[in-house]
Amino acid sequence: MEYIVLNNGVKCPVVGIGTFMLSPADAENSVREALKMGYRMIDTANAYVNERAVGRGIKSSNVAREKIFLSTKLWPSEYENPNAVEETLNRLGVDYVDLLYIHQPAGNWLAGYRQLEKAYRDGKAKAIGISNFEGKYLAELETKWEIVPQFMQAEAHPYFPQTELRRTLDKYGVKLMSWYPLGHGDKSLLQEPVFTVLGKKYGKSPAQVILRWHTQMGFAVIPGSKNVDHIHDNLDILNFTLTADEMAEIAKLDRNMRYYHRTDEQLVQFAAWRPGFEKA
Ligand SMILES: NC(=O)c1ccc[n+]([C@@H]2O[C@H](COP(=O)([O-])OP(=O)(O)OC[C@H]3O[C@@H](n4cnc5c(N)ncnc54)[C@H](OP(=O)(O)O)[C@@H]3O)[C@@H](O)[C@H]2O)c1
Repeated sequence: MEYIVLNNGVKCPVVGIGTFMLSPADAENSVREALKMGYRMIDTANAYVNERAVGRGIKSSNVAREKIFLSTKLWPSEYENPNAVEETLNRLGVDYVDLLYIHQPAGNWLAGYRQLEKAYRDGKAKAIGISNFEGKYLAELETKWEIVPQFMQAEAHPYFPQTELRRTLDKYGVKLMSWYPLGHGDKSLLQEPVFTVLGKKYGKSPAQVILRWHTQMGFAVIPGSKNVDHIHDNLDILNFTLTADEMAEIAKLDRNMRYYHRTDEQLVQFAAWRPGFEKA
């Protein structure tokens, strides 16, 4: 495994598994199989409604808790719930997480951020992060944080390498964790000729070349999958290195193009929605 050293000295594996849109049964299966194959990072969220399943997958993998970097996210409905962190830990079946995010800049997000800071001080989160806080939200938080976060989780891939956001993150040593790293499976990204050519050179699939690009950009990456072959391939990316010229070729794909466009109206809806958490 390769690691990123965070601005508080904590080490984070460069590649993990994401669990967005995975049913509890699929999440449990993917997490257990991923850990058995050697993954050491898992990303979930209150909103994915699969935290209990992720906890079950961790237990049945028989990999020791302290070897796993576990990341989850508080949803806006939980920002003013004083028990939000404890309830999240209970669902996951752990007594700390390695990384705790606030998921969206919706509702009383500053109260959510204060909960992260408290969890960090109490040792219940070894690192903290913000998710989808680009632009004015990050600018406001910069004036209010008491603890600088370790991560920003945001959409990033070769069509959208987050060049502008990274200028701010770099000032504080905040690392980027890419979501939609494979363009959410978009065929046009996966079929870009440059990835086929480089895949042939290194004996890798286009998806593996894209994931290696992320890690060489200095990003942590959490491809989502419920396919055991893909899960296996997505970890098998650390035994080749793209050259500077190849990284420059991939940089030409930058279209400043997001797949996901969040509106202000959606932020209002996010604040009003409460996940229907799995029952114990
Ligand atoms: N903070 C946020 O707001 C936010 C938003 C979105 C996502 N996320 C996080 O980021 C993670 C990654 O995002 P994502 O899962 O939505 O998108 P993604 O990783 O870009 O793409 C996942 C899609 O790619 C396919 N895939 C995975 N590995 C592949 C491979 N080796 N070859 C070909 N296809 C492959 C998967 O299908 P198969 O299942 O068939 O493999 C799935 O359809 C999420 O799981 C979640 O943890 C966070």
